[in-house]
Amino acid sequence: MKQVALPCGETVPALGQGSWRMGEDPRLRSQEIDALRHGIDLGMTLIDTAEMYGDGAAETLVGEAIQGRREQVFLVSKVYPHNASRRKMEAACNESLKRLHVDAMDLYLLHWPGAVPLAETVASFEDLQRAGKIRHWGVSNLDLKQMKSLRSVPGGAGAQVNQLLYNLGRRGIEWDLLRWLRTQAIPVMAYSPIEQGRLLFKPALVALAKRLGATQAQVAIAWLLAQDDVIANPKTASRQRLEENAGALALSLSPADLRELDAMFPPPSGATPLEML
Ligand SMILES: NC(=O)c1ccc[n+]([C@@H]2O[C@H](COP(=O)([O-])OP(=O)(O)OC[C@H]3O[C@@H](n4cnc5c(N)ncnc54)[C@H](OP(=O)(O)O)[C@@H]3O)[C@@H](O)[C@H]2O)c1
Repeated sequence: MKQVALPCGETVPALGQGSWRMGEDPRLRSQEIDALRHGIDLGMTLIDTAEMYGDGAAETLVGEAIQGRREQVFLVSKVYPHNASRRKMEAACNESLKRLHVDAMDLYLLHWPGAVPLAETVASFEDLQRAGKIRHWGVSNLDLKQMKSLRSVPGGAGAQVNQLLYNLGRRGIEWDLLRWLRTQAIPVMAYSPIEQGRLLFKPALVALAKRLGATQAQVAIAWLLAQDDVIANPKTASRQRLEENAGALALSLSPADLRELDAMFPPPSGATPLEML
């Protein structure tokens, strides 16, 4: 499995697994657990979840899927902005840990910026680190201005990732945020890497995928994986699509393929407000 280095020096798999919308439909439960476990078998051992997903249902499902395999997994969850305070974060984290059936998570992210000052959120993350409940912390959906504010608060340099909406059709971060993150050696965790399936049907992408003997999802994921500091975490509840997505690791895009993708999905030509889903 290709690895991406975090600022702390640890490495994580470049291809992980998302879990949004998992655990919400009892009829899909065994299939979702099977897909997550199969993903672990294939080396996609980074699993991303959040207290928000299904009001804890996704964390509960992930907890069940990783039973007996905790040591193999790099477990990521997220705290709601309204819980990201000294008063509330510990309780929120405890609830997540209970649902996940673990003593500690590997990475705990601020899901998006809210009303709690970043300095307080960072201090709360550091409390949890000292208590051994989280190993690392990071952020999600912070734009360049917010990342610079974060960098300026005490301990703010400790952020290990910024999880952002980033895929072939959402390249706005390349204008300035991605460049700045690179200067700080902070990787991007690209969420919705296939835009929840919506970007797969562009005729030119269909044609390129066909020529490469790959699927559109594989091309979209391989495009992200072509960058050394990007982690992609597609979500699927299907063993077959999971194997398809894992196949992106073996797809190497040539400079000509990348140019063709740039023509289809142009990079930004100016600053754009950060997009979120
Ligand atoms: N930080 C944030 O604010 C934030 C926001 C959004 C997402 N996320 C995280 O990022 C993860 C991934 O993003 P996402 O779930 O929004 O979108 P995504 O991974 O781009 O797409 C998931 C959707 O695409 C389908 N799919 C997966 N592989 C496919 C393939 N090879 N061909 C066709 N369809 C395929 C899945 O259906 P099946 O399950 O039926 O295969 C699902 O409906 C989330 O699960 C979550 O963990 C974070």
